[in-house]
Amino acid sequence: MRITIDEALALFLHDEVVAIPTETVYGLAAPITSSKAIEKVFSLKRRPSSNPLILHVKNAAECAKYTASLLPHFEALTECFWPGPLTLIVPVKTELVPSIARAGLSTCGFRMPLHALTQELLERCPPLVAPSANLSGRPSGTKPEHIEADFGISFPILDGGISVLGLESTILAFQEGRWRLARQGALSQEALHSVLGYTPTYLQVNEKPICPGQLFRHYAPNTRLLLSENAIGDYIVGFSDRSYPEAKKVFSLGSSSSAEQVAKNLYDTLRKLDLETIAEASVDMNIPSDGLWSTIRERLIRAANQ
Ligand code: TXA
Ligand code: MG
Repeated sequence: MRITIDEALALFLHDEVVAIPTETVYGLAAPITSSKAIEKVFSLKRRPSSNPLILHVKNAAECAKYTASLLPHFEALTECFWPGPLTLIVPVKTELVPSIARAGLSTCGFRMPLHALTQELLERCPPLVAPSANLSGRPSGTKPEHIEADFGISFPILDGGISVLGLESTILAFQEGRWRLARQGALSQEALHSVLGYTPTYLQVNEKPICPGQLFRHYAPNTRLLLSENAIGDYIVGFSDRSYPEAKKVFSLGSSSSAEQVAKNLYDTLRKLDLETIAEASVDMNIPSDGLWSTIRERLIRAANQ
Protein backbone atom coordinates (compact mmCIF):
# COMPACT_ATOMS: atom_id res chain seq x y z
CA MET A 1 0.00 0.00 0.00
CA ARG A 2 1.47 3.34 -1.05
CA ILE A 3 1.39 5.96 1.72
CA THR A 4 2.23 9.65 2.14
CA ILE A 5 4.78 11.18 4.50
CA ASP A 6 1.94 12.28 6.82
CA GLU A 7 0.62 8.72 6.91
CA ALA A 8 4.11 7.38 7.64
CA LEU A 9 4.44 9.79 10.58
CA ALA A 10 1.02 8.72 11.91
CA LEU A 11 1.99 5.03 11.66
CA PHE A 12 5.22 5.69 13.58
CA LEU A 13 3.16 7.28 16.38
CA HIS A 14 1.22 3.99 16.54
CA ASP A 15 4.43 1.92 16.82
CA GLU A 16 4.15 0.68 13.25
CA VAL A 17 6.87 -0.03 10.66
CA VAL A 18 7.06 1.62 7.22
CA ALA A 19 9.18 0.86 4.13
CA ILE A 20 11.20 3.93 3.12
CA PRO A 21 13.17 4.67 -0.05
CA THR A 22 16.88 5.44 -0.01
CA GLU A 23 19.47 5.79 -2.75
CA THR A 24 20.99 2.40 -1.83
CA VAL A 25 18.05 0.06 -1.12
CA TYR A 26 14.67 0.41 0.61
CA GLY A 27 14.69 0.29 4.41
CA LEU A 28 12.22 -1.15 6.92
CA ALA A 29 11.97 1.86 9.21
CA ALA A 30 11.00 2.37 12.85
CA PRO A 31 11.61 5.46 15.00
CA ILE A 32 14.36 5.15 17.60
CA THR A 33 11.77 6.22 20.21
CA SER A 34 9.57 3.14 19.70
CA SER A 35 11.03 -0.13 21.02
CA LYS A 36 7.75 -1.80 19.99
CA ALA A 37 8.18 -0.78 16.35
CA ILE A 38 11.86 -1.80 16.47
CA GLU A 39 10.81 -5.25 17.74
CA LYS A 40 8.42 -5.47 14.80
CA VAL A 41 11.30 -4.76 12.38
CA PHE A 42 13.14 -7.83 13.71
CA SER A 43 10.07 -10.08 13.63
CA LEU A 44 8.87 -8.92 10.19
CA LYS A 45 12.30 -9.55 8.66
CA ARG A 46 12.80 -12.74 10.70
CA ARG A 47 16.12 -11.21 11.64
CA PRO A 48 18.18 -12.69 14.49
CA SER A 49 18.23 -10.35 17.50
CA SER A 50 22.05 -10.59 17.48
CA ASN A 51 22.17 -8.58 14.23
CA PRO A 52 22.10 -4.82 15.03
CA LEU A 53 20.29 -2.14 12.99
CA ILE A 54 21.73 1.07 11.58
CA LEU A 55 20.35 4.51 12.37
CA HIS A 56 19.30 6.98 9.67
CA VAL A 57 19.75 10.63 10.58
CA LYS A 58 18.77 13.92 8.94
CA ASN A 59 22.33 15.30 9.19
CA ALA A 60 25.70 14.91 10.93
CA ALA A 61 24.69 17.25 13.78
CA GLU A 62 21.82 14.89 14.65
CA CYS A 63 24.27 12.00 14.70
CA ALA A 64 26.60 13.90 17.06
CA LYS A 65 23.85 13.95 19.73
CA TYR A 66 24.12 10.18 20.02
CA THR A 67 27.86 9.56 19.70
CA ALA A 68 30.06 9.08 22.75
CA SER A 69 33.32 10.23 21.18
CA LEU A 70 34.60 12.00 18.08
CA LEU A 71 36.76 9.69 15.98
CA PRO A 72 39.56 10.83 13.63
CA HIS A 73 38.36 11.64 10.09
CA PHE A 74 34.71 11.34 11.20
CA GLU A 75 33.93 14.92 10.18
CA ALA A 76 35.90 14.67 6.93
CA LEU A 77 34.04 11.48 6.01
CA THR A 78 30.59 12.88 6.75
CA GLU A 79 31.36 16.18 5.03
CA CYS A 80 32.54 14.38 1.93
CA PHE A 81 30.08 11.49 1.70
CA TRP A 82 26.86 12.47 3.54
CA PRO A 83 24.18 12.37 2.39
CA GLY A 84 25.20 9.17 0.67
CA PRO A 85 26.01 5.46 0.82
CA LEU A 86 28.40 5.44 3.79
CA THR A 87 27.55 4.02 7.24
CA LEU A 88 29.91 4.79 10.11
CA ILE A 89 29.95 2.60 13.21
CA VAL A 90 30.79 4.64 16.29
CA PRO A 91 30.52 4.33 20.09
CA VAL A 92 27.18 5.72 21.31
CA LYS A 93 25.66 7.09 24.49
CA THR A 94 23.88 3.81 25.19
CA GLU A 95 21.12 5.45 27.24
CA LEU A 96 19.94 7.22 24.05
CA VAL A 97 19.72 4.18 21.75
CA PRO A 98 17.51 1.22 22.75
CA SER A 99 19.59 -1.89 23.38
CA ILE A 100 17.44 -3.97 21.01
CA ALA A 101 18.44 -1.73 18.06
CA ARG A 102 22.15 -2.14 18.91
CA ALA A 103 21.85 -5.88 19.65
CA GLY A 104 23.36 -5.00 23.03
CA LEU A 105 26.58 -3.54 21.57
CA SER A 106 27.93 -0.16 22.74
CA THR A 107 28.31 1.00 19.13
CA CYS A 108 25.83 1.96 16.46
CA GLY A 109 25.98 2.48 12.69
CA PHE A 110 24.85 5.88 11.37
CA ARG A 111 23.95 7.00 7.89
CA MET A 112 22.40 10.06 6.27
CA PRO A 113 20.48 8.79 3.23
CA LEU A 114 20.27 10.67 -0.06
CA HIS A 115 16.60 10.62 -1.04
CA ALA A 116 14.28 13.64 -1.03
CA LEU A 117 11.25 11.80 0.46
CA THR A 118 13.20 10.16 3.26
CA GLN A 119 15.08 13.38 4.01
CA GLU A 120 11.74 15.17 4.37
CA LEU A 121 10.50 12.38 6.64
CA LEU A 122 13.66 12.59 8.79
CA GLU A 123 13.15 16.36 9.16
CA ARG A 124 9.83 15.59 10.84
CA CYS A 125 10.58 12.59 13.08
CA PRO A 126 13.30 11.10 15.31
CA PRO A 127 16.16 9.13 13.70
CA LEU A 128 14.97 5.92 12.08
CA VAL A 129 16.44 2.45 12.43
CA ALA A 130 16.22 0.76 9.04
CA PRO A 131 17.67 -2.51 7.87
CA SER A 132 17.26 -3.36 4.19
CA ALA A 133 13.61 -4.07 3.34
CA ASN A 134 13.73 -7.80 2.62
CA LEU A 135 13.19 -11.03 4.49
CA SER A 136 16.47 -11.99 6.17
CA GLY A 137 18.77 -13.65 3.63
CA ARG A 138 16.84 -12.52 0.52
CA PRO A 139 18.10 -9.94 -2.00
CA SER A 140 17.50 -6.42 -0.66
CA GLY A 141 14.42 -4.56 -1.91
CA THR A 142 15.19 -1.87 -4.48
CA LYS A 143 11.62 -1.07 -5.62
CA PRO A 144 8.13 -1.19 -4.08
CA GLU A 145 7.24 -4.48 -5.84
CA HIS A 146 10.07 -6.22 -3.94
CA ILE A 147 8.65 -5.08 -0.62
CA GLU A 148 5.18 -6.28 -1.60
CA ALA A 149 6.67 -9.66 -2.57
CA ASP A 150 8.30 -10.10 0.85
CA PHE A 151 5.77 -8.42 3.16
CA GLY A 152 2.44 -8.46 1.30
CA ILE A 153 0.55 -5.93 -0.81
CA SER A 154 -0.97 -4.12 2.17
CA PHE A 155 2.42 -3.31 3.70
CA PRO A 156 2.85 0.51 3.99
CA ILE A 157 5.42 1.83 1.52
CA LEU A 158 6.64 5.36 0.98
CA ASP A 159 7.11 5.01 -2.79
CA GLY A 160 10.32 6.71 -3.91
CA GLY A 161 10.75 4.83 -7.19
CA ILE A 162 13.67 2.54 -7.95
CA SER A 163 16.73 2.89 -5.70
CA VAL A 164 19.29 4.69 -7.85
CA LEU A 165 22.39 2.88 -6.56
CA GLY A 166 20.89 -0.55 -5.88
CA LEU A 167 23.57 -1.78 -3.46
CA GLU A 168 23.69 -1.26 0.31
CA SER A 169 25.92 1.35 1.91
CA THR A 170 29.60 0.76 2.58
CA ILE A 171 30.13 0.27 6.33
CA LEU A 172 33.24 1.44 8.19
CA ALA A 173 34.15 0.77 11.81
CA PHE A 174 37.05 2.35 13.70
CA GLN A 175 39.45 -0.22 15.12
CA GLU A 176 43.07 0.03 16.30
CA GLY A 177 43.53 3.60 15.07
CA ARG A 178 42.09 3.13 11.59
CA TRP A 179 38.78 2.94 9.79
CA ARG A 180 38.20 -0.63 8.66
CA LEU A 181 35.79 -2.09 6.20
CA ALA A 182 32.90 -3.89 7.89
CA ARG A 183 30.92 -4.30 4.66
CA GLN A 184 31.76 -3.44 1.07
CA GLY A 185 29.05 -1.35 -0.52
CA ALA A 186 27.99 1.32 -2.95
CA LEU A 187 30.87 3.65 -2.00
CA SER A 188 34.14 2.32 -3.40
CA GLN A 189 37.32 1.79 -1.40
CA GLU A 190 39.07 4.03 -3.92
CA ALA A 191 36.72 6.93 -3.01
CA LEU A 192 37.43 6.38 0.71
CA HIS A 193 41.17 6.46 0.05
CA SER A 194 40.82 10.00 -1.26
CA VAL A 195 39.66 11.19 2.18
CA LEU A 196 41.46 8.82 4.55
CA GLY A 197 44.80 8.69 2.72
CA TYR A 198 44.70 4.89 3.06
CA THR A 199 42.46 2.14 1.75
CA PRO A 200 40.33 0.65 4.51
CA THR A 201 40.76 -3.12 4.69
CA TYR A 202 38.60 -5.76 6.31
CA LEU A 203 39.30 -6.34 9.96
CA GLN A 204 38.56 -9.68 11.51
CA VAL A 205 38.13 -9.88 15.28
CA ASN A 206 38.58 -13.33 16.80
CA GLU A 207 38.43 -14.62 13.23
CA LYS A 208 34.92 -13.21 12.83
CA PRO A 209 34.03 -10.21 10.66
CA ILE A 210 33.19 -7.14 12.73
CA CYS A 211 29.81 -6.74 11.07
CA PRO A 212 27.48 -9.37 12.60
CA GLY A 213 25.23 -9.39 9.51
CA GLN A 214 28.12 -10.59 7.37
CA LEU A 215 28.03 -13.94 9.19
CA PHE A 216 24.71 -14.88 7.64
CA ARG A 217 23.72 -16.15 4.21
CA HIS A 218 22.69 -13.09 2.26
CA TYR A 219 21.32 -11.48 -0.89
CA ALA A 220 20.24 -14.91 -2.17
CA PRO A 221 17.36 -15.90 -4.45
CA ASN A 222 15.86 -19.39 -4.13
CA THR A 223 17.43 -20.20 -7.50
CA ARG A 224 20.79 -21.92 -7.17
CA LEU A 225 23.49 -19.74 -8.73
CA LEU A 226 26.55 -21.23 -10.42
CA LEU A 227 29.33 -18.68 -10.82
CA SER A 228 31.50 -19.09 -13.89
CA GLU A 229 33.93 -17.15 -16.10
CA ASN A 230 32.32 -18.86 -19.13
CA ALA A 231 28.65 -19.06 -18.24
CA ILE A 232 26.84 -21.89 -20.03
CA GLY A 233 23.51 -23.60 -19.43
CA ASP A 234 19.81 -23.03 -20.04
CA TYR A 235 19.51 -19.99 -17.82
CA ILE A 236 22.16 -17.29 -17.66
CA VAL A 237 22.51 -14.20 -15.53
CA GLY A 238 24.59 -12.12 -17.91
CA PHE A 239 25.00 -8.90 -19.84
CA SER A 240 23.01 -7.19 -22.61
CA ASP A 241 26.12 -6.62 -24.74
CA ARG A 242 27.23 -10.28 -24.73
CA SER A 243 25.75 -13.27 -26.51
CA TYR A 244 25.02 -16.65 -24.93
CA PRO A 245 23.99 -18.70 -27.97
CA GLU A 246 23.19 -21.92 -26.08
CA ALA A 247 20.94 -20.31 -23.48
CA LYS A 248 17.13 -20.66 -23.37
CA LYS A 249 16.84 -17.39 -21.50
CA VAL A 250 19.22 -14.65 -20.39
CA PHE A 251 18.44 -12.57 -17.30
CA SER A 252 20.23 -9.33 -18.09
CA LEU A 253 22.09 -7.28 -15.51
CA GLY A 254 22.60 -4.51 -18.10
CA SER A 255 25.73 -3.52 -19.98
CA SER A 256 29.04 -5.12 -18.95
CA SER A 257 30.64 -1.71 -19.42
CA SER A 258 28.54 -0.03 -16.70
CA ALA A 259 29.05 -1.11 -13.09
CA GLU A 260 26.47 1.52 -12.05
CA GLN A 261 23.80 0.00 -14.28
CA VAL A 262 24.61 -3.55 -13.13
CA ALA A 263 24.51 -2.51 -9.46
CA LYS A 264 21.12 -0.88 -9.96
CA ASN A 265 19.69 -4.01 -11.67
CA LEU A 266 21.36 -6.68 -9.54
CA TYR A 267 18.74 -7.53 -6.90
CA ASP A 268 15.81 -7.05 -9.28
CA THR A 269 17.41 -9.55 -11.67
CA LEU A 270 18.02 -12.09 -8.90
CA ARG A 271 14.41 -11.74 -7.78
CA LYS A 272 13.20 -12.31 -11.38
CA LEU A 273 14.75 -15.79 -11.29
CA ASP A 274 12.48 -16.64 -8.37
CA LEU A 275 9.40 -15.19 -10.08
CA GLU A 276 9.96 -17.71 -12.89
CA THR A 277 10.89 -20.47 -10.38
CA ILE A 278 14.15 -21.23 -12.16
CA ALA A 279 15.95 -24.01 -10.26
CA GLU A 280 19.47 -23.19 -11.39
CA ALA A 281 21.19 -20.40 -13.33
CA SER A 282 24.78 -19.69 -14.38
CA VAL A 283 26.18 -16.26 -13.61
CA ASP A 284 28.65 -14.65 -16.03
CA MET A 285 31.48 -13.66 -13.68
CA ASN A 286 33.73 -12.35 -16.42
CA ILE A 287 33.72 -8.91 -14.77
CA PRO A 288 36.40 -6.58 -13.38
CA SER A 289 37.38 -6.56 -9.68
CA ASP A 290 37.90 -2.87 -9.03
CA GLY A 291 35.62 -0.08 -7.79
CA LEU A 292 31.92 -0.91 -7.68
CA TRP A 293 32.58 -4.21 -9.50
CA SER A 294 34.29 -5.45 -6.37
CA THR A 295 31.02 -5.06 -4.40
CA ILE A 296 28.95 -6.60 -7.22
CA ARG A 297 31.31 -9.59 -7.24
CA GLU A 298 31.10 -9.94 -3.45
CA ARG A 299 27.27 -9.86 -3.49
CA LEU A 300 27.11 -12.50 -6.24
CA ILE A 301 29.48 -14.78 -4.34
CA ARG A 302 27.31 -14.47 -1.23
CA ALA A 303 24.10 -14.94 -3.23
CA ALA A 304 25.53 -18.18 -4.66
CA ASN A 305 26.62 -19.47 -1.27
CA GLN A 306 23.93 -22.01 -0.36
O1 TXA B 1 22.28 0.94 2.52
C1 TXA B 1 22.05 0.49 3.65
O2 TXA B 1 22.92 0.44 4.52
C2 TXA B 1 20.62 0.00 3.92
C3 TXA B 1 19.68 1.20 3.82
C4 TXA B 1 18.26 0.86 4.16
O3 TXA B 1 20.16 2.25 4.58
N1 TXA B 1 20.55 -0.63 5.21
C5 TXA B 1 21.10 -1.84 5.45
O4 TXA B 1 20.87 -2.34 6.73
O5 TXA B 1 21.73 -2.47 4.62
P1 TXA B 1 21.09 -3.88 7.12
O6 TXA B 1 20.59 -4.00 8.50
O7 TXA B 1 20.48 -4.75 6.10
O8 TXA B 1 22.64 -4.04 7.12
C6 TXA B 1 23.40 -3.34 8.11
C7 TXA B 1 24.59 -4.14 8.52
C8 TXA B 1 24.27 -5.50 9.15
O9 TXA B 1 25.10 -6.46 8.55
C9 TXA B 1 24.65 -5.31 10.62
O10 TXA B 1 25.17 -6.50 11.18
C10 TXA B 1 25.69 -4.22 10.56
O11 TXA B 1 25.27 -3.38 9.52
N2 TXA B 1 25.76 -3.41 11.80
C11 TXA B 1 24.80 -2.61 12.29
N3 TXA B 1 25.18 -2.08 13.46
C12 TXA B 1 26.43 -2.53 13.71
C13 TXA B 1 27.38 -2.35 14.77
N4 TXA B 1 27.11 -1.57 15.82
N5 TXA B 1 28.55 -3.01 14.69
C14 TXA B 1 28.82 -3.79 13.62
N6 TXA B 1 27.98 -4.00 12.59
C15 TXA B 1 26.80 -3.39 12.64
MG1 MG C 1 20.33 -6.33 4.80
